[in-house]
Amino acid sequence: MKIEDVQLIQIDSTSYCNLSCPQCGRINPANGNLSVDITLKHIDPDVIFKNLEFEKMPKLKSIGFLGDFGDAIMHPKFESMVKTCLALPQKPYVFLGTNGEVHTPSWWARLGAELKDEKFFVEFCVDGTANTNKIYRVGSRYDLLIANIKAFVEAGGKAAQKTIIFKHNEDEIDEIKRIAESLGIDTVTFIQNDTSRFVEDTTVKQIKEKYKPISGMDVFFKNEKVAFLEPTKFTQSELNAYDVRGSSYNLLQDFFTLDIVNNDACSNFSRGWIEITYDGTISPGCCHSGAHLMYNLNDYQYIKQIVKDFDKLNLNKYTLSQILSSGFVERLENALTSSRVPGVCQRMCGFQSDGTVEFTKRYQMHTVKL
Ligand SMILES: C[S@@+](CC[C@H](N)C(=O)[O-])C[C@H]1O[C@@H](n2cnc3c(N)ncnc32)[C@H](O)[C@@H]1O
Ligand code: SF4
Ligand code: SF4
Repeated sequence: MKIEDVQLIQIDSTSYCNLSCPQCGRINPANGNLSVDITLKHIDPDVIFKNLEFEKMPKLKSIGFLGDFGDAIMHPKFESMVKTCLALPQKPYVFLGTNGEVHTPSWWARLGAELKDEKFFVEFCVDGTANTNKIYRVGSRYDLLIANIKAFVEAGGKAAQKTIIFKHNEDEIDEIKRIAESLGIDTVTFIQNDTSRFVEDTTVKQIKEKYKPISGMDVFFKNEKVAFLEPTKFTQSELNAYDVRGSSYNLLQDFFTLDIVNNDACSNFSRGWIEITYDGTISPGCCHSGAHLMYNLNDYQYIKQIVKDFDKLNLNKYTLSQILSSGFVERLENALTSSRVPGVCQRMCGFQSDGTVEFTKRYQMHTVKL
């Protein structure tokens, strides 16, 4: 992939978050505290945006502030980053995926009113009702979330909702839909809890042989047990039947609909999709994002062989053109067609070390099925 190919940029703008969801990569599930692999940091948009060289991306279509290790609304310059992106000559879609529980309803009303005519939309994660949202979204203030959504939508903001279904909220689907409708949300997507996060020991979860699924896990917050989390009985296809589709869904679809722009084997690189981790490191999509931070996981060893020097992929030090021509793209592509397929590509995209490609569950976590 070359910089001219870039169509979608996903920005993990911060590792700060107001919540402590036990299966999030930023949290140590054994105690509910920040993972030792994570450093609290915001990206510096002055440096990152300059080094992204937007002017060299004629096909740029979409910029997402979804995050892998934080929530973008924690970034002190969130609004100005969004406005800078919306003002680019390519006129990209700008998307925010958020827990929605930072700031006040008046902040959200202003954001909605200011950006109501722009290509900006928000997907709020609402994982339950007043009684259950906090079971996975540890630290959640449900009333604030609902007030913020209401304020944003009433001011004209375009919003969708994503709901992760676990055992504790699987009987509330109709109620969750009813509340969303009452808030004026016309698009609700139900996703199954990520089954690979229910494993015996998260430090070995990426090593296939030792992968031991478990039927539930204790949830900790500040070293105290606060809940017990169990997976849903529903399959993803059963949950799809509950989805609600309105006009915001068209925005989500447009956002993720990308042309194939090159012959790369990597499904993200072939569609010009890149990710920026909060420390400035570039990776394809979100699949490798943060792998370089997790020294204790197998993926680190795989990725290290391909990347060699993670500093060379860092937008704080190099421009995107320099990063994409540093040899990392070619090495990843070579690995995908050899027996050195990174573990994450085996799991997410189904590349096998014998050269075959199996069915992928890669997009399970995306609202839009690609
Ligand atoms: C790490 S979060 C960061 C964005 C934002 N802070 C949020 O939580 O929505 C990125 C995505 O991962 C999803 N996610 C978090 N925990 C999950 C789980 N256990 N199963 C499936 N998806 C999960 C969230 O719904 C969110 O869309
Ligand atoms: S709200 Fe998002 S970033 Fe924050 S802990 Fe939960 S999943 Fe992680
Ligand atoms: S998992 Fe590997 S092959 Fe698939 S999109 Fe990510 S980097 Fe590319």
